[in-house]
Amino acid sequence: MEYSELNTTPFFKGLSVLWVPFLATPVHVARRMLALAGARPGELVVDLGCGDGRILLIAAEEYGCRCIGVEIDEKLAELARKRVEERGLSKSIEIFTGDLMNFDVSQADIVTVYLTPAILGKLSLKLKKELKKGARVVSHDYPIPEWRCIFKENIRTRGYHVHRIYLYRK
Ligand SMILES: C[S@@+](CC[C@H](N)C(=O)[O-])C[C@H]1O[C@@H](n2cnc3c(N)ncnc32)[C@H](O)[C@@H]1O
Repeated sequence: MEYSELNTTPFFKGLSVLWVPFLATPVHVARRMLALAGARPGELVVDLGCGDGRILLIAAEEYGCRCIGVEIDEKLAELARKRVEERGLSKSIEIFTGDLMNFDVSQADIVTVYLTPAILGKLSLKLKKELKKGARVVSHDYPIPEWRCIFKENIRTRGYHVHRIYLYRK
């Protein structure tokens, strides 16, 4: 499936649903996010808005984590599932299709997000309410409102984009 075919989610029908487009975290940035979060074997990593599932593939393959991806775009969720299957990681990674605001994150050890400030604003309270003590949250490019960042790192890649990683701990 081509990238151009993937960004086809209609601008929501679901009305109350907050949505942001698919923009993939570069693999080396994803690796750094998981390293900063201190991912350990057996921990549960949840990527809210998982896109093609790349963060989860790394978490499962390189860190031995259990993983869940939540993705509202059916085509992307399907692509993520296909990648999981191709890599033989179906026992470690599960992909759910749906709105991330409806997903219970209370079991997560690590939550990864690459979302817009608007949706992070809504998510902030939900994470505070649901996450267990000690859970880590790693956000790509945008800080999570009302959370105290414990570590921030900038990663410069080719081109002008400086990727920002924000780390939090409940
Ligand atoms: C910027 S992309 C990040 C993809 C992936 N996490 C990564 O870092 O490569 C944001 C993703 O969130 C998904 N998304 C946006 N709003 C969502 C919502 N309300 N519920 C679930 N997924 C959502 C989009 O379809 C898109 O795939």
